[in-house]
Amino acid sequence: MADPAAPVGVFDSGVGGLSVLAEIARLLPHESLLYVADCGHIPYGEKSPAFIRQRCQIVAEFFRAQGAKAMVLACNTATVAAVADLRERYPDWPIVGMEPAVKPAAAATRSGVVGVLATTGTLQSAKFAALLDRFANDVRVVTQPCPGLVECIEAGDLDSSSLRQLLQGYLTPLLAAGCDTLILGCTHYPFLKPLLAELVSPDIAIIDTGAAVARQLQRLLGERGLLAEGPARPAQFWTSASPAHLLKILPLLWGRSDNVHSLGL
Ligand code: DGL
Repeated sequence: MADPAAPVGVFDSGVGGLSVLAEIARLLPHESLLYVADCGHIPYGEKSPAFIRQRCQIVAEFFRAQGAKAMVLACNTATVAAVADLRERYPDWPIVGMEPAVKPAAAATRSGVVGVLATTGTLQSAKFAALLDRFANDVRVVTQPCPGLVECIEAGDLDSSSLRQLLQGYLTPLLAAGCDTLILGCTHYPFLKPLLAELVSPDIAIIDTGAAVARQLQRLLGERGLLAEGPARPAQFWTSASPAHLLKILPLLWGRSDNVHSLGL
């Protein structure tokens, strides 16, 4: 029987999942959080599903060795590639994945046109196609892969002129198609919300799924009697690249920079 005081493992290919970690910390302040950034293998967006599945297994084993009571795949690309495999391997371990917010966007759009910004891996996946079949029959969905955005965010660039130009280029076809709702289908992109707010009209809704994932984690832990009650231990961070990179970027994206370790895997 798992221990409610055990930590929750949160995983992304890099620092994008910190946008989800923040939502989890806000909703579940008693939970002790472990975060793994696979920065040594980023970006996942252009990698094969088999490679991503292998990395997810390695990280899942790491979290289990740390005694984690649950795992959150704070990465859309990793979810489409690996969540089914992980759930099959660990049927009794709560695993929360994420998917682009097609359902709420389809319900919210007034123009009937929804845009999705995500990685190539997410947009090309069968899981994403199934999501559209299920929830987007009455709306037009325009998809836009965004190579390069993740690399900027990993480098701590949230507003340079070259990033601005890259993002504008990705937004232009979506806006020209009449999208009034934009889905941020990659956990890195919420860090671009201030820039997006400068580039698109305030009438355009921008939706991401970090808060919904935190609620799903709350539900899964609650059902199993695993919600923590005592004070949380400080969040711990591991990276498969140089800890110096994470130490440098954490203050910008997480607000502080301590407890950073090398994953060594
Ligand atoms: N943050 C990841 C996601 O949500 C992807 C970033 C990457 O390409 O590695 O899809």
